Amino acid sequence: QDKTMDKIVSLAKRRGFIFQSSEIYGGLSSAWDYGPMGVELKNRIQRFWWREMTQLHDNIVGLDAAIMMHPRVWEASGHVENFHDPMVDCKNCKNRFRADHIDLDAGCPVCGVSGQFTEPREFNLMFKTNMGPIHDENSVVYLRPETAQGIYVNYKNVVQTSRVKIPFGIAQVGKAFRNEIVTKNFIFRTCEFEQMEMQFFVKPGDDETWFEYWMKKRMAYYEKIGIRMENLHFHQHGPDELAHYAKDAYDIEYKFPFGWKELEGIHNRTDFDLSRHSEYSKKDLTYLDEETRERFLPYIVETSAGLTRSLLMVLCDAYEEEQVGEGDVRTVLRFHPELAPITVGVFPLVKKDGLAELAKEIEMELREDYATFYDQSGAIGRRYRRQDEIGTPFCVTIDYQTKDDNTVTLRFRDSMEQIRVSRSELSALIRSHIKS
Ligand code: GAP
Repeated sequence: QDKTMDKIVSLAKRRGFIFQSSEIYGGLSSAWDYGPMGVELKNRIQRFWWREMTQLHDNIVGLDAAIMMHPRVWEASGHVENFHDPMVDCKNCKNRFRADHIDLDAGCPVCGVSGQFTEPREFNLMFKTNMGPIHDENSVVYLRPETAQGIYVNYKNVVQTSRVKIPFGIAQVGKAFRNEIVTKNFIFRTCEFEQMEMQFFVKPGDDETWFEYWMKKRMAYYEKIGIRMENLHFHQHGPDELAHYAKDAYDIEYKFPFGWKELEGIHNRTDFDLSRHSEYSKKDLTYLDEETRERFLPYIVETSAGLTRSLLMVLCDAYEEEQVGEGDVRTVLRFHPELAPITVGVFPLVKKDGLAELAKEIEMELREDYATFYDQSGAIGRRYRRQDEIGTPFCVTIDYQTKDDNTVTLRFRDSMEQIRVSRSELSALIRSHIKS
């Protein structure tokens, strides 16, 4: 694994972003828990996406569908039949691999022995369980492998209850599950993950125009959340990469320390899903255009981003080791201020002489508007560095001068510049720096 990745994994653990699942029992491979900083970062990425997709569009509404759905859904969607990966085992070391992730003519990536792979076997990626006390074929339910189907089966409910008219979208964030063979790369590919999906319903024939629209919009979103644009590009799916439902698909790929990898998929799903659901459910899923009195099955353009994968991307993109003096390197996470788990760190220069009380009072004022963190122990420089490591964009220090003239020091994470600000203007000034 890449050295930078090792450092990011170690920082993520050390600072409470991401822990191995069930660590005290030796861990469960490829399952991860989000710690105090991680859950804040994840929630903020989700909120940013949600605002972008719903609040900033007047024709996109939200939904939160159940993870478990009627098993026929997954027959209709094609997942029972088509959602397979090829798998091989190494007969020598007994490790298992995705056949399309390794070079079968080379040696085993773990033990190095060649010519010992089993024939590739297809296995379905859906997790299966049973609902109710009797475990037989009739009680099988699946954990959803994508959130999208919850939107398709509800699309008529949404049309009938929320006055949306084509073209319109439905957005959803939630967990999805895939029984992946995972060997490396931290939280990049996991069996349990979260997706942020938006399904945009359009008139057949308008799909290509909307597809291009959403490609541009989604790339612009990553610029908005502060990702370095040189680390992002589009990759068009060739005929052999296209999913069973897609007419055209582009991935937005990010340059992770371990290479260019998919971050989000933008898919033209045509009327594949709705026509299959009308066939399987025997319900009329056509849409009536009230102006033209035309009836049609909408086409769907999908934007599908991984939330947990976005979090890894945001961590990688923000991570920097900066030379700040002779032999002095600081580690800093340069998050967009709206994504940072903590927005303002508040410190008294020293605890005594009433400075701690005064700092606490100022923190209480700031708490109304921002996620704050109060820290009174250790050298001030060390307190700054600790905040740099979790990406806190602003720090406020209260010193003796504060008692005289009600001013504080405001320190900026990125430039490390410090300015003197009056207490009454502090909150507004921070706000203006978040927005700029
Ligand atoms: N509804 C379409 C769909 O699910 P996908 O390309 O299979 O399309 C979309 O998945 C996104 O979900 C991916 O771009 C990725 O960000 C995320 N994703 C998929 N499988 C994942 C996994 N095993 N672990 C983490 N994220 C995953």
